[in-house]
Amino acid sequence: METAAPSFALSRLGRRASAPSITALMRLALETPGLLSLAAGFTDNGSLPVTPVGEALRGLAEAAPDHAYLQYGTNAGRPGLRARLAGRVLRQDGRAADADDPAVLARWAERVLVTNGSQQALYLAIQTLCDPGDIVLVDRPTYFVFLDLLAGLGVEARSLPVDAAGRLDPAALRASLAAMRADGSLARVKAVYFIGWFSNPTGRTLGADEGRALAGALRAEEVVIPVIEDAAYREMGYTAGADAARTGVLSDPAWDGFPRLYAGTLTKPFATGLKIGFGLCDHDAWRAAMLHVKGHHDFGSGNFAQALLEQVLGDGSYDAQLAVLRRVYREKRDALHAALLAGGLAARGWRWAVPEGGLYLWLEGPAGLDTGGESDFCRACLREGVLYVPGALCHGDAPPRHTVRLSFGALAPEGLAEAGARFCRAAAAF
Ligand SMILES: Cc1ncc(COP(=O)(O)O)c(C=O)c1O
Repeated sequence: METAAPSFALSRLGRRASAPSITALMRLALETPGLLSLAAGFTDNGSLPVTPVGEALRGLAEAAPDHAYLQYGTNAGRPGLRARLAGRVLRQDGRAADADDPAVLARWAERVLVTNGSQQALYLAIQTLCDPGDIVLVDRPTYFVFLDLLAGLGVEARSLPVDAAGRLDPAALRASLAAMRADGSLARVKAVYFIGWFSNPTGRTLGADEGRALAGALRAEEVVIPVIEDAAYREMGYTAGADAARTGVLSDPAWDGFPRLYAGTLTKPFATGLKIGFGLCDHDAWRAAMLHVKGHHDFGSGNFAQALLEQVLGDGSYDAQLAVLRRVYREKRDALHAALLAGGLAARGWRWAVPEGGLYLWLEGPAGLDTGGESDFCRACLREGVLYVPGALCHGDAPPRHTVRLSFGALAPEGLAEAGARFCRAAAAF
């Protein structure tokens, strides 16, 4: 039987949505036999917490004979998990006394919304703050999936100015805010977003002084807008407590008066497949709006994964897993770094910092090099059998062409050594 050709038009959102930047690269990785990918932000398969998850499951079954952990949960998330997450963030911010005070902890737990990865918290934040045409200030460089998210919602990203060392430049920021005031675009600036610790893509932790200078510059220009602190890699430092170099926005008085959202995750530090993250938001109306929209999306993240995480956070196996990951990722960082050095990359004018946490090396190639997805350099890497993320994707505006993000999350150390050698062989021709 013939069916009539559908006649419909996609919504503006549907039309605006385009394939995420990484999609073409991921497809290439899958379609090219033998290709080693330093592109995708996947974690290490070999160290996924199979045993702790199995034990937690058995514990759940014994503790809840009614099997409620397999039932729907609530929109904001499991109360026990929200309390554990609030307590964890307070302790990381050096506020153990608050975490130990049941009344204070209960207030903070109320501010937590458990989400489908921290990615959903970021999406809800922008959906509830921005209309198409609005502007979000982002760090430079930044998390490219966040940039895709902004573009999908019709929101413009504007980079926070940085100096030659990649540190925030507060004077340039004040000048740029003043220019935006003069041209009328300041009214469209609805939020500021940055990655607090061991950034994707640079591996950098924002300095305590930089965070304060950022808050100070915004306040001085009377731009007291919602601030979104992305803490996806806070627990991924290679030594316990490495994140203590700075306090999060929720506890730093420099940010008092700004509506604050802290976006945290349990994926990278435990098991990415469980896909549970959270937002901790100290502004009641903003948090309520995010919860309402979340209710429309899914009326609650997976209760089963939440119950499992509540269990492992409580019995110590989450922290034991973190200790394993710290060693695993330090070794991987070392393997890739050593391969790049051995391949003579530094001698060819390439520069990179060696991060103290996270999953990435951020490389600056020789001036004038083009590392874009369609470039000769990219094709040379593919011929050698190695894939990377072009650094231009990680910039909200005015992207430099000569940067590269290499992820050491997924490949084993031997694979990283080989992938690094291939990258260096490709780079030798440029
Ligand atoms: C900086 C940053 N933020 C947020 C996320 C989202 O992670 P998830 O949704 O797994 O919590 C990622 C994932 O790669 C990330 O790199």
